[in-house]
Amino acid sequence: MSQVMEYSEKVMDHFTNPRNVGEIENASGVGTVGNAKCGDIMRMYLEIKDGVVIDAKFKTFGCGAAVATSSMATELVKGKTVEEALLVTNKAVMEALDGLPPVKVHCSLLAEEAIHAALWDYAEKNGITVPGLKPPVKDIDETEEFYKTES
Ligand code: FES
Repeated sequence: MSQVMEYSEKVMDHFTNPRNVGEIENASGVGTVGNAKCGDIMRMYLEIKDGVVIDAKFKTFGCGAAVATSSMATELVKGKTVEEALLVTNKAVMEALDGLPPVKVHCSLLAEEAIHAALWDYAEKNGITVPGLKPPVKDIDETEEFYKTES
């Protein structure tokens, strides 16, 4: 059974013209997450100075929605404090992209987890505790709580 997917203009824009692609050498925090089911992998680099994210870059080996969500996620975290960056959830990323088709929601979850993983790495390297920051989830799957609350 084939399924026609509708993507918003913003998703198409960030997919065809992704922002902040690349890596940051000696980044303050690096996070890599993946989804075993689709095999997509996302790596996020954050440069943090005085508790503020001054730069963010990503590399995503994945679907178009994963590229678009990584792109938007890097845009959203730039200029935010570590605490504020932690609040950039997959829902926030999806909203900023004017939505995603339901089967692509997990792609945005990858972006949220990549941010968290990079923040975790930063916190560990600097021996600091960020309230609400949990150890990264390496393998995102669709049993995540998000899916249970999304019906
Ligand atoms: Fe898996 Fe998009 S299909 S991240």
